[in-house]
Amino acid sequence: MPSLTDAYKNHPVEHNLIAPLDFSLIKDVPESHAWIQSNDLKENPNINKKELGLISVPIINLEDTNVLELIFNACETWGMFQVTNHGISKQLLEQVEFEAKKLFNLPFEEKMKTLRSPEAATGYGYPRITPFFSKLMWNEGFTIMGNSLIDHAKILWPNDFQGFCDVMEEYQTRMKDLSDKLMGLLLKSLNIPGPYMKEMDNDLCTALQLNSYPTCPNPTRTMGLAQHTDTFLFTILHQSANASGLQVFKDGPGWVSVDPHPGALVVNVGDLLHIISNARFPSAIHRAVVNNATQRLSFAYFYGPPLDFQVAPFLDYPGCEGPTFKSLKVKEYVGIKSKYLDMALSFVRKSC
Ligand code: OGA
Ligand code: NI
Repeated sequence: MPSLTDAYKNHPVEHNLIAPLDFSLIKDVPESHAWIQSNDLKENPNINKKELGLISVPIINLEDTNVLELIFNACETWGMFQVTNHGISKQLLEQVEFEAKKLFNLPFEEKMKTLRSPEAATGYGYPRITPFFSKLMWNEGFTIMGNSLIDHAKILWPNDFQGFCDVMEEYQTRMKDLSDKLMGLLLKSLNIPGPYMKEMDNDLCTALQLNSYPTCPNPTRTMGLAQHTDTFLFTILHQSANASGLQVFKDGPGWVSVDPHPGALVVNVGDLLHIISNARFPSAIHRAVVNNATQRLSFAYFYGPPLDFQVAPFLDYPGCEGPTFKSLKVKEYVGIKSKYLDMALSFVRKSC
């Protein structure tokens, strides 16, 4: 069975672009992390503040009788929504936060024992998109996939790894169930028949990414996670309630903050759903900014088809025009994304 690591093998990352700073020692933003204050870090002067306050990503109750229509509209307009009544307990979310904090609060040398290797997909390190930017990000992450969970937990806590593993295992199981449900709704909202999903049932490509954005002495000079789209079908993100940071790009207003809403999870469309929906559901361009008051944590669950699954625009829904994208395997797309990042979708676009 091909793994994500196999798909990344041809695109190894330099060591200095994987190993984060020891943020606990930093008193000021170093040059390596000082992002130029470009226009997109400033506010758009043409936008009326009041108006901007009213624009926000839709919050959808999963039990709403109009859920299909609400999801369709949110995905078409934003590529993103927040979902409530999702069935993931508050207690589990608190446990995940507790365990993630335990991990990120370990001494730097301990975390470095699980540093992701240059061609691998799991472990501790800077975001995978780091090599595409000239500055480093104010972020440390830990990626979990399959057996990496237990292998890495044993390195971090040789005598006490079970608690971390149990919580992360349980969270991934619950995220998988919720993702299956959301996938069903997303396809239904696009009028794509159920059997399309049946083909995807085995060996789904999923990963759990724990992100920590340490308190930053000068947040306007740096970037937590630079702008990107997620590669797979969609992502479910839980963000800690104590701090905002996630932003989504929308034509017109520009960067719009996606603030934590009590009990809600963020769902954002990724590149593969962008292709399958023939761009009807745009892959959300998003980023995370940091703050000087508190550490912010977020947990992203990436949900994708098996790496050998053939992805193609599904054209049989009303109003759909000719295919905009070529058909390709998930692993081919992962390769293209690793090489071209935000240009990847244009590489698979059909030239008419
Ligand atoms: C990600 C991501 C946003 C956040 O991990 O891909 O977009 O707020 N995270 O941490
Ligand atoms: Ni993302």
